[in-house]
Amino acid sequence: THQWRGIIEEYRDRLPVTDTTPVVTLREGGTPLVPAQVLSERTGCEVHLKVEGANPTGSFKDRGMTMAITKAKEEGAQAVICASTGNTSASAAAYAVRAGMVSAVLVPQGKIALGKMGQALVHGAKILQVDGNFDDCLTLARSLSENYPVALVNSVNPVRIEGQKTAAFEIVDMLGDAPDIHVLPVGNAGNITAYWKGYTEYAADAMSTHRPRMWGFQASGSAPLVRGEVVKDPSTIATAIRIGNPASWDYAIAARDESGGFIDEVTDREILRAYRLLAAQEGVFVEPASAASVAGLLKAAEQGKVDPGQRIVCTVTGNGLKDPDWAVAGAPQPVTVPVDAAAAAERLGLA
Ligand code: F0G
Repeated sequence: THQWRGIIEEYRDRLPVTDTTPVVTLREGGTPLVPAQVLSERTGCEVHLKVEGANPTGSFKDRGMTMAITKAKEEGAQAVICASTGNTSASAAAYAVRAGMVSAVLVPQGKIALGKMGQALVHGAKILQVDGNFDDCLTLARSLSENYPVALVNSVNPVRIEGQKTAAFEIVDMLGDAPDIHVLPVGNAGNITAYWKGYTEYAADAMSTHRPRMWGFQASGSAPLVRGEVVKDPSTIATAIRIGNPASWDYAIAARDESGGFIDEVTDREILRAYRLLAAQEGVFVEPASAASVAGLLKAAEQGKVDPGQRIVCTVTGNGLKDPDWAVAGAPQPVTVPVDAAAAAERLGLA
């Protein structure tokens, strides 16, 4: 009787909906804010993880997608389209099913994790693999939505940002105030834009005493915001953030500057180290792109940029099950034993 109702019902008065809007929801949001003991010890701070992999399709995209599909339905759309590195397509496909709509997704050929492809397939999306990168897919999706009867549900659609800003509300509601620092992975830059909007709206209504500094991290091979120029051929093992020309570029820079934060890069090696630390020492399994936030926090701490005693929230954006190859790669093969307790005990080092 007290189930979380999804972000539109929980934050209805702060979202662009009316009493007659047909809400399409999988009860997204209400995700865990988990105290991170090892990260807190390492930084001397109070670090929390906002675990967005706990959303219905396994990523933060569901917050934006419940809004985007709801509004598309309200406007009478019968089909939606998106470009995606995988998570947006999985979410669009699932919410389109709930709305009774057709979904079309454009993904970069060979560069999306298997779990995400499986989601789009099983939800019945029409999938095109594009011979290009994410930025090319987005150009194509925009063009199709302008010239054909299909609604664009990428984060260039402003209602996506509206939905995603609710994560900031949840954090303030849980902590009783805004954190001092908020750390995020950055790809197309919609999410850092959305969090900043959420924190700003809450502060304006005195729901918090201040806004956090926004720290964003891109993968080194895909860091246009750090370089200050478009990256033509982006690369990183964190395929979710393999993006060279972020759509929300100016909003991300505004969030950085208005908050007194920064946007920096982390190497794939640093990302994988944080990925393993989160799983092995915090018990939280995320996909590689999500670990960029934590990798960035650890890098900043090593550089002496993290004053002790601060309250820090790191968003971990997607579930580790999306892309399990990195968990298995390099790990020892489990040994096989007969159905024999003595043999099993010996192998487990119990005997
Ligand atoms: N983390 C994950 C797991 C993502 O899937 C994305 C973006 C990001 C971080 C970066 O967020 O783009 O708002 O800066 N994924 C998009 C997609 C591009 O198509 O699923 P952003």
